Amino acid sequence: MISGKTQVCGILAYPAEHSMSPRMQNYYAKMSGIDLAYVPFKTEPERLGEAVRGAYSLNVLGLNVTVPHKQSVMAHLKEIDPGAAAIGAVNTLVRMDDGYKGYNTDAEGLLRAMKKEKIGIAGRTCIMIGAGGAARAAAYILAREGAEKIYVLNRSVEKARGLAEGINRVFQKEIMTALPLDGWKQIPEQRCLAVQATSVGMYPDTDASPIAEAGFFDKLETAVDVIYTPAKTRFLKLASAAGAKTMNGLDMLIFQGIIAFELWNPGVRVSEETVEGARRLILESQ
Ligand code: ATR
Repeated sequence: MISGKTQVCGILAYPAEHSMSPRMQNYYAKMSGIDLAYVPFKTEPERLGEAVRGAYSLNVLGLNVTVPHKQSVMAHLKEIDPGAAAIGAVNTLVRMDDGYKGYNTDAEGLLRAMKKEKIGIAGRTCIMIGAGGAARAAAYILAREGAEKIYVLNRSVEKARGLAEGINRVFQKEIMTALPLDGWKQIPEQRCLAVQATSVGMYPDTDASPIAEAGFFDKLETAVDVIYTPAKTRFLKLASAAGAKTMNGLDMLIFQGIIAFELWNPGVRVSEETVEGARRLILESQ
């Protein structure tokens, strides 16, 4: 029931119609007993600054930000969390005095999902595939959580190099090395943690995998895919067949939303039962 005290949150997106966030966030509010309504705000790119200022004037408590605004929104914020600044993308705005502070909960969402599956990062050799937005968030988490070494493989090796240089600069060590997609053949380590962070293999292109050679999967102890439709991508199927532990991107999606909700509602911790409910909601609506 919306009252005079209801807090408003929403998502800035263009288009906004397909976003799962309104369903998820309103479910978290209901399950946590918080008087909060979350709505889609379809925002044209040229109106983004106006939208952020308008939301602040309207006392909007918090916003999620998604395609195509995750980078451009940074110019309209009062403050940016150092992690989000290092990643170069913001997906959550939290109201403060005088403006919004930007965070990247995609990165923390991936970490929470990996912790839940007991997938450790510290001391590991990691192989990331992709150098786009999702890959930037994943690279930051792997470096911050103490990976020993990160190889980033990408179709465009120039883009991988840009990502590796940025991460090496932020962490002030040569932790990340850029390679082309077939560069895995040069990687000497075994029992690696792989993170697939491209859109290759996503529905409806479910027969695709950015790498499909058996030799690659033999190097893996664990494989994470940021894709959640299908639940098991070809990449994860090949990894399973080679004996690796696998995780898809569904919990990353769920936890990025939960971490945003918890940032807007300090002191609130979404229960395990609610996390399970969110998973069912997403699976039902596919
Ligand atoms: P997102 O923000 O979802 O990560 P993005 O920034 O467009 O999306 O990045 C897409 C990633 O998927 C990139 O790493 C891209 O490789 P390039 O940098 O070489 O473009 C990768 N990608 C997309 N289609 C691909 C394909 N058919 N084969 C290999 N890599 C692909």
